[in-house]
Amino acid sequence: MPAKRYLSQMNASATAEPSDAVTFDLLAELPDGVRGQVVPILDFGSQYVQLIARRVREQGVYSVLVPPDVSVDVLREAGCVGVILSGGPSSVYEEDAPKPDPRLFELGVPVLGICYGMQVGCQLLGAEVKPAESREYGRVNLRLEDETEKLLRGVPGRTTAWMSHGDQVNALPPDEFVPLATTNTCPFAAVRHQSLPFYGVQFHPEVTHTPHGTDLLANFLFDVCGAKGRWTMADFMDSQVKAVREKVGDAHVILGLSGGVDSSVVAALLSKAIGQQLTCIFVDNGLLRKGERHLVEHTFRGHFDLDLRVIDASADFLNDLEGVTDPQEKRTRIGHRFIDVFKQTAEEIAKGHGDVKFLAQGTLYPDVIESGHGYAGTAANIKLHHNVGGLPEQLGFDLIEPLRNLFKDEVRQLGEVLGLPEAMVWRHPFPGPGLAVRVLGEVTPDQLALLREADEVLLEEIVAASLYRKTAQVFAVLLPVRAVGVMGDGRTHEQVIAIRAVESQDFMTADWARIPFDVLATISNRIINEVRGVNRVCYDISSKPPATIEWE
Ligand code: XMP
Repeated sequence: MPAKRYLSQMNASATAEPSDAVTFDLLAELPDGVRGQVVPILDFGSQYVQLIARRVREQGVYSVLVPPDVSVDVLREAGCVGVILSGGPSSVYEEDAPKPDPRLFELGVPVLGICYGMQVGCQLLGAEVKPAESREYGRVNLRLEDETEKLLRGVPGRTTAWMSHGDQVNALPPDEFVPLATTNTCPFAAVRHQSLPFYGVQFHPEVTHTPHGTDLLANFLFDVCGAKGRWTMADFMDSQVKAVREKVGDAHVILGLSGGVDSSVVAALLSKAIGQQLTCIFVDNGLLRKGERHLVEHTFRGHFDLDLRVIDASADFLNDLEGVTDPQEKRTRIGHRFIDVFKQTAEEIAKGHGDVKFLAQGTLYPDVIESGHGYAGTAANIKLHHNVGGLPEQLGFDLIEPLRNLFKDEVRQLGEVLGLPEAMVWRHPFPGPGLAVRVLGEVTPDQLALLREADEVLLEEIVAASLYRKTAQVFAVLLPVRAVGVMGDGRTHEQVIAIRAVESQDFMTADWARIPFDVLATISNRIINEVRGVNRVCYDISSKPPATIEWE
């Protein structure tokens, strides 16, 4: 989730770590069960590289990113069943272009090159790569040469694929390659080597815009590589538990728990790994939804063996917000207060546990990729999508980020495996500044109380209509205007609630949800009847862009 408008304020001082061996460590720490069944991805810097890993993992085959020039000996030791070469922004004929270990094909396992990965693989095997006369970006028509090829089984002879390239393979050594597919301007849109187990595709099978991309990847994994496909999220959990234990040793870890999915999953995972060596800090900022603090306390005290500190700083937060109506100012004040409270608590915990060495965070892969941070990527400012951005440096902690290779839905799967309750795993996202950005205008205890009531009614009805899991985010917004109404025989002059319900994959874009009219009618009736001070309910029918999901 980007939510760029607040990131710059909260994380002004955060800079990128050097491209270290974090992900690479995973390879060395593979659970026993996946040795011999791993498909590493040589990361040449593509925006889609983690998406490839995720598509492979979805098929039950363990995948991990490794540096593009990783030694073949490392790959051999890890026991690969196949290797994927990712796309990337470079041109293979440039001097500094990243290249794989030239002994790559000595590994003896199938290799699939995607886009730049195809070009670099073909070049290694004697092909010529040049700028394409006609570059291809977006959807193209693809014609298969031979539908019975293992890699293409189940893919129709005429289909579409997603392209994004300026260079392409221009000429292949005669009699050494079999062309498998073409487009109008790309003569080698897919190829196979005659004698070595190398396949290349110029298009991107990992994106959903390539309709048969998943079939192609499955063909590569199972028919070409002979992978077994038995890897599960439970294995990921085991490997992370092991990795965290090794990294932490006897030291102590703190974690800012927000009650959202990501930090909750990290809490559950770390609790399993290191139990009482973890202290979670949950800050009640007075801007939470109804029952939120109880849900977090109940879940973590009741189900997990962890040290949870609930810090009630609501008076300080509300004090800071007095008289403030500008949304950015609200965010800045909340961000600063949060850092103060967190820092103070962390220092107190450190006094009790002299060995607090680590801060755990629920950073997800989309947060990482936005920074251009990868094995082939150049260092750029990291946009930590976290309330505690900037803190690790101030406090001198090392970071533990066990979810940094996962996408949101994978995190939810992991949460289920860890035994988190459904209400926690499937929660809609909630912004760090909480209800402060949903009470438009000044945030007061009365306005917050009113919004909490309306929001609770709304969510009850959404759940009752089985719409919660079908929507990405649903919430109520309290507008700072009064409307005239009539109740009984009297005139009313009360506030307006807006209902926001959106569908979205990644929260970068969103469409308003088509909630059935009768559900909206029940919600409206209930809010107006049950929430004192509201006489009108509106439904927000704006998509993002041009609107944003939150109103402030
Ligand atoms: P917008 O309103 O930018 O929201 O379309 C996109 C997603 O980000 C969430 N959001 C925030 N999350 N702090 C956060 O942690 C914030 O200040 C913030 N503002 C928006 C929003 O709820 C949606 O999921």
